Amino acid sequence: MNRYAVFGQPIAHSLSPRIHAAFAAQFGIALDYRAIEAGRDSFEAALAAFARDGGCGANVTLPLKEDAAAFCSALSERARRCGSVNTLIHDGDDWVGDSTDGIGLLRDLARHDLDLRDRRVLLLGAGGAARAAAFALADAGARELVVANRTAARAQALAGALHARARACAWDALRHAGTFDLVVNATSAGHAGDVFEWPLAADEAPAAGYDLSYGKAARPFLVAARAAGVRDARDGLGMLVEQAAESFERWHGVHPDTAPVHAQLRIALDARG
Ligand code: ATR
Repeated sequence: MNRYAVFGQPIAHSLSPRIHAAFAAQFGIALDYRAIEAGRDSFEAALAAFARDGGCGANVTLPLKEDAAAFCSALSERARRCGSVNTLIHDGDDWVGDSTDGIGLLRDLARHDLDLRDRRVLLLGAGGAARAAAFALADAGARELVVANRTAARAQALAGALHARARACAWDALRHAGTFDLVVNATSAGHAGDVFEWPLAADEAPAAGYDLSYGKAARPFLVAARAAGVRDARDGLGMLVEQAAESFERWHGVHPDTAPVHAQLRIALDARG
């Protein structure tokens, strides 16, 4: 049996096992894909145990994406560039890291006809997921990319690693940062379930908002965005399915059909309420 897993914390509600099972069924591939709870302290030991048990590949999610990039013995070009890894490929005794979050985000934005060329984009967060998103948003042709984060130094480091059209902005200064076409929430704040304090001025609602999370974790941002007047506010379910398809292709050499899997999961998420 091909053994795969997703590592992260919290991980119990991850949809990744279900997504990979659905993809595998499309090709008749026998697959054992599990969710394994691991935080920053326990990740390396958990991954080593998984490798001993025959693990062939893994996904990593919050809060492990930057740690995974540092841990891998080799990185794909896109993972090296953004310093974030969500896909691990077992290679002999080593792990090779790749990052499929950026392409997953862009595929989902394209599906929603969100063209970023010449747009002004605000990215909230500067962790592993935000880093992958930032490079993808810049590559998609955003006119200006503003990065804001609770810890300002991380936003400055990320903006510095991007290109000249990216800059960091203090969270408290966003009120005076003008109008954005799109605001992307890449913070993990929604997992705590707290109210999301909308950071922009009341009369500066962006046309679109996107949270990289899905389900309950995306809700605080989506509620705040809609209340602020954002007409097109979406969660990251489509990105999750698209990044999973890219990981699946890295491991199995075939690209699954994402549309039916996305549609089934949307129904399941809506039913969960
Ligand atoms: P991920 O893989 O999801 O990016 P991460 O690397 O741990 O996980 O990054 C989490 C991001 O969410 C960071 O930008 C973090 O801000 P800090 O750099 O200040 O830690 C942000 N974040 C987490 N909890 C938050 C909260 N309650 N309010 C605002 N930002 C938060």
